[in-house]
Amino acid sequence: VIDIRKLYGATGKFTYDPGFMSTAACNSSITYIDGDKGELLYRGYPIEQLAVNCDFLETCYLLMNGELPNAEQKKAFVGTVTNHTMVHEQMQFFFRGFRRDAHPMSVLVGTVGALSSFYHDSLDINDPHHREVSAIRLIAKLPTLVAMAYKYSIGQPFAYPRNDLSYSANFMRMMFSNPCEEYKVNDVLVRALDRILILHADHEQNASTSTVRLAGSSGANPFACIAAGIACLWGPAHGGANEAALTMLQDIQKQGGVERIGEFIAKVKDKDSNVKLMGFGHRVYKNYDPRAKLMRETCHEVLNELGLHDDPLFKLAMALEKIALEDDYFVQRKLYPNVDFYSGIVQSALGIPVSLFTGIFAMARTVGWIAQWNEMISDPEQKIGRPRQLFVGSTRRDVPAMAQRG
Ligand code: ACO
Repeated sequence: VIDIRKLYGATGKFTYDPGFMSTAACNSSITYIDGDKGELLYRGYPIEQLAVNCDFLETCYLLMNGELPNAEQKKAFVGTVTNHTMVHEQMQFFFRGFRRDAHPMSVLVGTVGALSSFYHDSLDINDPHHREVSAIRLIAKLPTLVAMAYKYSIGQPFAYPRNDLSYSANFMRMMFSNPCEEYKVNDVLVRALDRILILHADHEQNASTSTVRLAGSSGANPFACIAAGIACLWGPAHGGANEAALTMLQDIQKQGGVERIGEFIAKVKDKDSNVKLMGFGHRVYKNYDPRAKLMRETCHEVLNELGLHDDPLFKLAMALEKIALEDDYFVQRKLYPNVDFYSGIVQSALGIPVSLFTGIFAMARTVGWIAQWNEMISDPEQKIGRPRQLFVGSTRRDVPAMAQRG
């Protein structure tokens, strides 16, 4: 705690807490994490139960409304989301303005922000109905935009959404069908994608969610706020870790696979090497990340379905996990696999290119971002976010004439 009178002659105190290691910025009743126990609850429900018993849209309903839908509510919600999956035809011109090799995250930051220009009918953030319509639009249109970003990058025509398919099946079809070949829906693969979406749907006040809240605190429209969240998620320390974990496994594999794990672990333990075991460790979880267990199971199911049970990367990942969990370095520091350790292998097996991994994360997290944004706007105590600083620059001085400057 800093006494700011010593700094400015002003009154009051504030805390200096870089990285917000111990500062709560809001009240929230959406997601609860117990990092020591390795527990993650959405609205009180354990992630393990949601991942097995619910689909992604039920999870969205839960995060947005606080309760799971009954059959009638689910039908109505799915119908509403499905009706909003199309994007305005003008949107294709935004895509066409990008280079073909543009990173999908830059395309998403631009196109999601641009959505606000099409929906002037729902931008009154003080109207709960407007907020709900915007939330539905974002959840419904993100898969369409992510798939369009992919299709554009590979030079194929955009695929329009199909209303008779589930949320995840529709996305897989928009990604993988083309005018010459219709995508055959595979229930195991669709369920795996749905599970990835559920596991990434919310994670309380992480960097991108805090970004959405801060942007929203000024009254910015929800599309602009979600675009800000996507920009933050793009960073390698946040949404980019699954790509890094996959690349790490591929590198070890190239160098000889399982037999080289010992050497790799030794490098990780050598502090001068600056090498980390990607997909391991977490700021909050000091126990097994519950999402990682589910992701490992899903990985197993997907590889079996595709006849890839002998996938060398999966075997390597399991061997690496086993060795690390028995090693004192990882035990003492409470470093366990996080959700990203296995999710890259699953996404690759689904046919999703590495450059789109973070886009899939954005698609999943949109519901968490918008639920948190809505919670903030509805909070009567909500204020514009305005962190203080610990000023360490010059004290007051006079501007010297040019000839006197050093
Ligand atoms: N490999 C090797 N050592 C590690 C790792 C790792 N993956 N993670 C942490 N450590 C070590 C640190 O070097 C430090 O050691 P020291 O005490 O000897 O200095 C100790 O463990 C504590 O780590 P911190 O960096 O202080 O932990 P922090 O909470 O700041 O970092 C983070 C958490 C960023 C996730 C870190 O564990 C990491 O970089 N992991 C690899 C990247 C990754 O997988 N990120 C995904 C996070 S999940 C998500 O975003 C969805």
